[in-house]
Amino acid sequence: MASRAVRGVAIVFVVALLCSGASAGNISIYWGQNGFEATLASTCASGNFEIVMLAFLSEFGNGRTPVLNLAGHCDPPSGTCKSLSADIESCQSSGVKVFLSLGGAWGSYSIASADDAQDVATYLWNNYLGGNSGSGPLGAAVLDGIDFDIEATTEHWDDLAKAVSALSTSSKKVYLSAAPQCPYPDNHLGVALQTGLFDYVWIQSYNNPPCHYANDDATNLVNSWTLWTTSVPTAQTGSFYLGLPAAPAAAPSGGYIEPDILISQVLPQIKGSSAYGGVMLWSKYYDEQTNYSSSIKDYVIRKPSLVEVPTLASA
Ligand SMILES: *[C@@H]1O[C@H](CO)[C@@H](O)[C@H](O)[C@H]1NC(C)=O
Ligand SMILES: *[C@@H]1O[C@H](CO)[C@@H](O)[C@H](O)[C@H]1NC(C)=O
Repeated sequence: MASRAVRGVAIVFVVALLCSGASAGNISIYWGQNGFEATLASTCASGNFEIVMLAFLSEFGNGRTPVLNLAGHCDPPSGTCKSLSADIESCQSSGVKVFLSLGGAWGSYSIASADDAQDVATYLWNNYLGGNSGSGPLGAAVLDGIDFDIEATTEHWDDLAKAVSALSTSSKKVYLSAAPQCPYPDNHLGVALQTGLFDYVWIQSYNNPPCHYANDDATNLVNSWTLWTTSVPTAQTGSFYLGLPAAPAAAPSGGYIEPDILISQVLPQIKGSSAYGGVMLWSKYYDEQTNYSSSIKDYVIRKPSLVEVPTLASA
């Protein structure tokens, strides 16, 4: 009796998952560094993404005037990025969270002290998180969180994580995410990650042969995944996302995984763990070269035991 009832519930659950279609995939993606990619609104309207990170706030800290860089999409000094407010709000109304990503590979940024971290957090609150509505580079829209794609300097990123985390109130949660590179511990974010304050950790599993997929072999990637997910405390379960290039050209030093290989060989090895949340992609521009997110979205969900993974039809 009991087991039949349980099985009945399980079958209903599987059908519910299969029917949820477009919204099944937990994929986060970076948007903003190529003016030729789709608009933010249409990126969210694709139904492929749970979270979109706006890349990047490329200059900040230690007295710098903060600079938002969204490549060819718009020009912050002349106010043209304020039109993104409507896009951000359309994303949010369809259930997609939008974060501001700090840093990137080419920016100029550092935090000088705990006080400086507080100043940067206050700036973020006033300009991007609703503190001083309408006056920020993106206009009146209120972002959902702050992403740390920190690839320079080592000091005080823990102070910035604490200061940003402290912005959350009972009526407004400010999410924190981080994009460490896969060699463990991360040179720049290692200390900050040990605070356990991050809701999402996208492990950049590319451009780093010791921990990315290479030569048809996922061993290094899976070992790295296990080390990360058992060593870094996070603010929730399901925090860890496998960070991948969405096209070969997105990762000049390697790590691209063909979608059918990801689905059949890599995801089954990592998505059974409660630490697993999904897949992060760099970036929307490259996703449009391959349709990577569309190919994988039905397979990235957690609890693989509930859904049979069909074999992909060969092209
Ligand atoms: C997947 O995304 C949905 C929203 O689209 C969210 O409710 C759910 O918690 C996410 N799952 C994980 C494991 O993060
Ligand atoms: C991606 O999907 C779009 C829309 O369906 C299609 O026009 C395009 O040819 C696809 N690109 C690739 C590389 O498959």
